[in-house]
Amino acid sequence: MNVPLLDLTLQYRGISTDVMPELLTLIDEQRFILGPVVERFEREVETYLDVPHAIGCASGTDAILLALRAYDCGRDTEVVTSPFTFFATAGAIHNVGARPVFADIDPDTFNLDPAAAEAAVTDRTRVVMPVHLFGQMADMAAFRALADRRGVKLLEDAAQAIAARQRVNGEWITTGSLGDACAFSFFPTKNLGAFGDAGMTVTQDADTAERLRKLRVHGGRQMYHHEEVGYNSRLDTLQAAVLSAKLPHLRGWSDGRRKNAAFYDQALAGIDEVQTPVVSADNESIYNQYTLRVRGGRRDALADHLREKGIGSGVYYPVPLHLQECFEYLGYKEGQFPESELACREVLSLPVFPELTEAQLAYVAESIRAFFRA
Ligand SMILES: Cc1ncc(COP(=O)(O)O)c(C=O)c1O
Repeated sequence: MNVPLLDLTLQYRGISTDVMPELLTLIDEQRFILGPVVERFEREVETYLDVPHAIGCASGTDAILLALRAYDCGRDTEVVTSPFTFFATAGAIHNVGARPVFADIDPDTFNLDPAAAEAAVTDRTRVVMPVHLFGQMADMAAFRALADRRGVKLLEDAAQAIAARQRVNGEWITTGSLGDACAFSFFPTKNLGAFGDAGMTVTQDADTAERLRKLRVHGGRQMYHHEEVGYNSRLDTLQAAVLSAKLPHLRGWSDGRRKNAAFYDQALAGIDEVQTPVVSADNESIYNQYTLRVRGGRRDALADHLREKGIGSGVYYPVPLHLQECFEYLGYKEGQFPESELACREVLSLPVFPELTEAQLAYVAESIRAFFRA
């Protein structure tokens, strides 16, 4: 049996008749830059997430970068974030000219630890950026309180977690509810994926929204009049059409991932060396990744074994950001963020996409059990 880590062709088969007519119309009419199709998708996301302002842009990386610029992050400012995340989180901080400052993660959820983040705040900190890793939200009540206490902006990196939920004071909130701004990626492998790169920032604040709209078109409200230097980072019109067609399916797809996760949780319970994802009753993960922790040093051997069995798996992420060559100038040393470093040695993500069959799930689980029996 063959079980790829992700197979997007199956999803495409289910939605091609929804997506293709509008793409062909846009191509027929040669309408590619912003316009009503982008605006429609922005309004749809505002309604879907119940946020007042959604601004599309070219990628999740830019969704972060534009938000950092909107908060005037630049020289002599710092942004506190996790070293255990995709590179773009910190790359965007560097690229606006600010300094990435790392703090360690919570070992259960792999998300930035609010107490560690607060200890890293200085009078140069302008933004704290938790990352909702693998589809599970970071502790937003704690981060909101931290941001208010320390007078910094709270930017959510929700690239992997669109519409994940968390119960705060008895009420379910979602990505973008408690942050001052929140960045999404529509990279094809995300739960809501485009046919290429695309991203979006949502915000509670009208002035920030206006600034984001300006920054994505070279920093001017009016063509050829530039109040500041911005970027060319628009949400591509064709991608907006794809995303509009896919949005109604998002909840069902994330439900499918949760169902597959529940299958693995049960089927992999009781293996000493394997920790299945820790998601509390106050969190609803969208499982962009289903990530095991493999204790005892056999993570890579398990990945090899799965490959031999025709099963895809992935290591997200093998190297923490504080130890990346490009960030040597920050002066971090090995051992400084032990939980992040340990996670890099132990994590292994399994296929969890919603179209997996029960036979495939059972085969993955049995192959893992067989590895630890041997
Ligand atoms: C946590 C995180 N942040 C940022 C990004 C950047 O998004 P994109 O690839 O759309 O630029 C990604 C996704 O790839 C991500 O996983």
